[in-house]
Amino acid sequence: MEEGTSAFSESQSSSIEYRVSDDGKVKVTAFVFRPEVYKKIKAELEEYKWIDLDYLLATYPKNGTHFAWEVMTMLIQGSADCIKQPKQALMIDLVPINESKECFPSPRVLNTHYRTDVLPAEFRKAKTVVVMRNPKDAFISAYCHEKRLSSLFDSVKRAELNALKLEDFLQKFLYNKGIDYGNYFTYTEYMWSRRAEPNVLVIFYEDLKLHAAATIQKINEFMGTNRSPELVQQIAEATDFKRMKQAKVEAKPSESVTKMLAANLVDQEGQQLMIEQMYRKGGIGDWKNHLTVAQNEQFDAFLANWEGGKGIPFQY
Ligand code: A3P
Repeated sequence: MEEGTSAFSESQSSSIEYRVSDDGKVKVTAFVFRPEVYKKIKAELEEYKWIDLDYLLATYPKNGTHFAWEVMTMLIQGSADCIKQPKQALMIDLVPINESKECFPSPRVLNTHYRTDVLPAEFRKAKTVVVMRNPKDAFISAYCHEKRLSSLFDSVKRAELNALKLEDFLQKFLYNKGIDYGNYFTYTEYMWSRRAEPNVLVIFYEDLKLHAAATIQKINEFMGTNRSPELVQQIAEATDFKRMKQAKVEAKPSESVTKMLAANLVDQEGQQLMIEQMYRKGGIGDWKNHLTVAQNEQFDAFLANWEGGKGIPFQY
């Protein structure tokens, strides 16, 4: 059974919450930002009836959720105009699912960092896009995320995150010593094992970046949105990192979404900070700028022993 204690949960709540698969074999630490909100999130997920018009985007943290969400939502809206609302409004891990329904009508892209076997069975019916990213870049992006968003936490947690050393985070990441949503490697193995299911499409962050139009076309076909090659090309250009970052930072979400996020997550200032900090470098291979030779060797040794990862075509 996969277990972990969560650094995030520890500071903002007194008890750690887990999500467990139906057969009890998989157990991951839940992301609990505000305990009273988490209770509602959990209860509403249990009761939820999947809406067939909707899509699910499933990604391990920092594997390209924002990038793919923007692409998918543009395909639904049928234009390459920046999506004004932040994707957090439809993140089922962060806000109670019925509240997001009110401010974002179907069809829409609900998104989650949970592996789909720890969600209620209803969610496994969903048309699901999975984004994977090479583990070294995912690790560095996650480390930077902890630092860049530390100010959203209370003073104890903030100090802890600010003091977090890359070396310590590496041990957590590789050996699952306290990671929300469970471990990258078991997550990736499980979601990869679902790749042949007709309602699942696995894509790679690196392909979305390097072969944007071709990868967006794959998503277009899978979603059944049937958009033209011209629009697919426009979406590829609009979601190019620099352009998308600027548009998202300048976007003005609706008042109802801002209010809903303030009630469940962080205030308006925090929401803006989240957007600004979420778009960091948006590249491939930044791990080369951060890992020491010894850390990289340790990572490689770990990957060489990762049986479940053999055959997954990562690009570094
Ligand atoms: P970096 O920290 O390496 O820059 P997630 O959305 O799952 O949290 O993933 C965040 C990562 O995706 C960050 O990676 C972020 O910069 C990157 N990203 C966001 N939008 C992107 C885009 N349009 N193109 C490429 N990368 C993007």
